[in-house]
Amino acid sequence: MAHDPLPVSEVPVVPPRILLGPGPSDANPRVLQAMSGPMIGYLDPDFVKVMEEVSELLSRVFNTEESLTMVLSGTGSAGMEAGLSSLLEPGDTVILCVCGFFGRRMADMAERVGANVVLLQSEWGRPFPPEMLEAELKKHDMVKMVATVHAETSTGVLQPLEEISRLTKEHGALLMVDAVTSLGGTEVRVDDIGIDYCYSATQKCLAAPPGLSPVAMSPRAIEVVASRNTKPSSWYLDLALIANYWGGDHVYHHTAPVSNIVGLREGLRVILEEGMGPRIARHNRNSAALRAGLEALGLQLVVSPEHRLDQITPVWIPEGIDDQAVRASLLRDHHIEIGRGLGDFAGKVWRIGLMGDSSKSEYVLALLSALESILPSAGYEVAVGSGVGAASKSLAEL
Ligand SMILES: Cc1ncc(COP(=O)(O)O)c(C=O)c1O
Repeated sequence: MAHDPLPVSEVPVVPPRILLGPGPSDANPRVLQAMSGPMIGYLDPDFVKVMEEVSELLSRVFNTEESLTMVLSGTGSAGMEAGLSSLLEPGDTVILCVCGFFGRRMADMAERVGANVVLLQSEWGRPFPPEMLEAELKKHDMVKMVATVHAETSTGVLQPLEEISRLTKEHGALLMVDAVTSLGGTEVRVDDIGIDYCYSATQKCLAAPPGLSPVAMSPRAIEVVASRNTKPSSWYLDLALIANYWGGDHVYHHTAPVSNIVGLREGLRVILEEGMGPRIARHNRNSAALRAGLEALGLQLVVSPEHRLDQITPVWIPEGIDDQAVRASLLRDHHIEIGRGLGDFAGKVWRIGLMGDSSKSEYVLALLSALESILPSAGYEVAVGSGVGAASKSLAEL
């Protein structure tokens, strides 16, 4: 079929959005500007300097002096799959501490690797209880790895890692942690906690576009990967080969997405200029204001205060309200994206993200004001101004 030539004036433009979903979040303007620079070769000495700087900046954000920090070409799921396929061999036992959607994805991947997968599932909306892991470890002589999710984006829960790490170390197993939603918005302490393999993604709290997965690998994980009996099933996500490109000799593996990596360097600089302390405080202040506003509208939050993640706030959809219609109106009439529920929470919750550059007080107020206008027409009465008022008060107090 012959297509008509596309007039230049009709080249589609992506409409501006207020991104308050589970990611992607706003990319920082400095990141986007850095990415629009000229193309450069992936082994150009100047690009190698960029890689070295990215690795150094990542080690600060991951709080590690011991681990090799590098970037995988692919989204957060690439980081997850690289860890499972490079650290596990067929027949190895892995225990997954799961209380949400992304933990289940780990199980699917680990099964494909041929591992003996022990899936420990606990209640959604609460952290995973370490006692469950303790009881399971007692049943095994040899567990190769324990894995969990630090910030479960599907439930809005922050998982404490200390006890899980202690039990894992006592057993001599490796610890893998998903920090896709935590890195850059919550402290991720790779060395202190003793995480052997930690992966994240650029599109949430790192204020860069999707497409990269920053990872940290402990010396022990590097040794495990280097001394495998079998080659990992994935060549592209083989952490040993990728470490050869990022580490010492920069041996060619694949064509690195240079513009994204240059953008990530800028994003990491932005983070460290702000400082992790003030950045975490900003996430905290804005999510507190959002919660105050939602509660003033009479909406119920899913997670109890002590387990809440500042990056994402799930809220129960009131009885009889059309989930999709409210989200569609937010997007169409107010240009605001919020997230739908996943897995066990599908159709039951809205998930409101305030991550990285999207964690802004003006976005909180814009969303609450939009909800105040949409919810009454959807059949849920609210006192107009109550949500915005409560959020403004919270912001003023903090
Ligand atoms: C906690 C968590 N892990 C893993 C992923 C998968 O990351 P990606 O969609 O970047 O592949 C996500 C995505 O939202 C996530 O929130």
